[in-house]
Amino acid sequence: MIEQLRKDFPLLHKLVDEQPLCYFDSAATTQKPQSVIDAVSHFYQLENANVHRGAHTLSADATTKYEAVRDKLAQYLNVHRSEIVWTKGATDSLNLIAHGLSDMLNQDAVIVLSPFEHHANIVPWQQAAARTGAKIVVLPASKEGVLDHNASIKLIHKLKPAILSICHASNALGNIHDVKSLIDASKAYSTITVVDGAQSFMHLKPDLTQLDCDFFVFSAHKALGPTGLGGLFGRFNLLNSLPVYQTGGEMIDTVSFSGTTFRQAPEKFEPGTPNISGVLGFGAALDYLNNIERDALIEHEYALYQYLVSNLKNIAGVKIWGDTAHNIGVVSFTYKNEHHFDIATLLNTYGVAVRSGHHCTQPLMAHLNIPGTIRVSLAFYNNQQDIDTFISALIETIEMLEE
Ligand SMILES: Cc1ncc(COP(=O)(O)O)c(C=O)c1O
Repeated sequence: MIEQLRKDFPLLHKLVDEQPLCYFDSAATTQKPQSVIDAVSHFYQLENANVHRGAHTLSADATTKYEAVRDKLAQYLNVHRSEIVWTKGATDSLNLIAHGLSDMLNQDAVIVLSPFEHHANIVPWQQAAARTGAKIVVLPASKEGVLDHNASIKLIHKLKPAILSICHASNALGNIHDVKSLIDASKAYSTITVVDGAQSFMHLKPDLTQLDCDFFVFSAHKALGPTGLGGLFGRFNLLNSLPVYQTGGEMIDTVSFSGTTFRQAPEKFEPGTPNISGVLGFGAALDYLNNIERDALIEHEYALYQYLVSNLKNIAGVKIWGDTAHNIGVVSFTYKNEHHFDIATLLNTYGVAVRSGHHCTQPLMAHLNIPGTIRVSLAFYNNQQDIDTFISALIETIEMLEE
């Protein structure tokens, strides 16, 4: 089944520096199936028109198709279509939410984050805190990079935070967080809960009604879709109550030189011409994800992950960081005191594409007391051959470094 699916991803068969590509950077961005590539080019070749504007056929058809993807996405996340806002990506979504929620913050307010957050889920809150005097508190985690769940729940009860914003899965280490119980603990204090789903959207297919969060953000390009597109879910009444973020055409009701009135959510947060081809490409990505045998693929991904972890554990000097018991398939490791960049550069000469560095989680690296890691991030289209190639390339790389 995997070999059949791999055929759908043209780039997986590319030679990089004359080597077959072993792509292990899906946490940064996933590869795209041909159907997504086709949907984007089909739009420009045969369907191109602006949406929500013209009375002409092309525009009406583009609008229908564009809005149908909002329905598809709402179904994927199990929420209502009016609660979905299109944005440029998870970063843009978090900025919109932090900006919108600033109005309810003051110097008595606490914003709770975890040490695992991507900079995109730290900096917008820091800006909001600087504007309002609110305080940021970080949940506790072990020195190995695992959230201390019980202590985190206790801290939430103690702090009664105004906002809890936490990643569902860590991009740096792959840890899956039990966000549901953190959200449930926060309910007693009317805490507004924000889930960064950039890494969980594809791997975990979260049911947001069941998760019961107030906001959820994601990026299309981390779930087989095009870059430059993402979105957010917001519980309708709360979402609709947020002040506008960016302004301009499309998001208004009426404009005169004496004032402007705005539309309801989600349109009030969607000014200007949207990323139409991106949305249509993402529609094809959602079709792809909906049509594959998800349970079997999750099993395949997890088996690959365990195979990778057990092979790495056999290499003396390798240290794996994070929670290997609850993981979306990301292995972050260091080798003795060797620099992560040197290892990643040498691996690249074998066609092995990994990420090295701080992974936009500098506070996490500071917590772990390391400058960075080598990150191997898996997706369902990886196979055992990829892992075998990686392990033998790593062994040779280490031999070179030890010479
Ligand atoms: C957990 C997490 N949050 C947010 C982001 C930001 O996503 P984007 O760069 O697509 O806006 C990323 C990207 O790596 C991420 O992994």
